[in-house]
Amino acid sequence: MGFKEQIDINRLPEHIAIIMDGNGRWAKNQGKFRVFGHESGVLSVKDIVEGCVDIGIKYLTVYAFSTENWNRPIDEVNALMELLISTINNEAETLNKNNVRLNAIGDIKSLPQKCIDDLANVMEITDKNTKCTLTLALSYSAKWEIIEATKKLAQQVVEQKIKLEDINEDSFNAQLTTAQLPEPELMIRTSGEHRVSNFLLWQIAYTELYFTETLWPDFRREHLFEAIVDY
Ligand code: IPE
Ligand code: IPE
Ligand code: MG
Repeated sequence: MGFKEQIDINRLPEHIAIIMDGNGRWAKNQGKFRVFGHESGVLSVKDIVEGCVDIGIKYLTVYAFSTENWNRPIDEVNALMELLISTINNEAETLNKNNVRLNAIGDIKSLPQKCIDDLANVMEITDKNTKCTLTLALSYSAKWEIIEATKKLAQQVVEQKIKLEDINEDSFNAQLTTAQLPEPELMIRTSGEHRVSNFLLWQIAYTELYFTETLWPDFRREHLFEAIVDY
């Protein structure tokens, strides 16, 4: 029996978050450049999105580019941005066909203008889709997000729009970039690293963490289903 058949559909996570890691090592293992690993990783994203649609996962959030990733060599950063642009444009039609809505979190305005524009465009043309929300975390870090939320609340206090006592879990949550998303029940990290690397710190207070040795470009829906069975 495959993992898909073992999934208890009454205990399906509503929201799965994934730290997609190991692209560079995957490429290196084959004597190729790191960028080849990132390109291959896109195929994994496509398969995982379709796997989520297949079994009825409502929210999928993937860590695609962290604030810290800006410190990588400029050629790798540029290649990742190019890949982001080509992927969202190439996939717009498939997202619509699969009834998937594209969403993004992170410091989006720090991305190259073409990324910002194309992202906004594909988000708009997939806006009415209801089966699954795919959120790309781009130039994202949880500490950045928490500080941004803190600044917004502090500003509201200064302007006397709210009182200090109005700051609580709900009002704080409402300022996060994930305000419209439920908290993930399951977070997966590939490639054998057992850390969170500044992803969704606030939101994972009660999230189950699942680590696998599989490198991201090898990760397919069968691996996702295995993680869900484990959950
Ligand atoms: C994850 O793979 C993709 C991004 C962070 C953009 P890595 O590029 O971190 O691959 P490894 O961890 O070096 O193998
Ligand atoms: C985490 O992977 C970020 C993304 C998957 C986008 P990294 O490879 O950048 O994280 P560290 O450096 O191993 O913690
Ligand atoms: Mg890595």
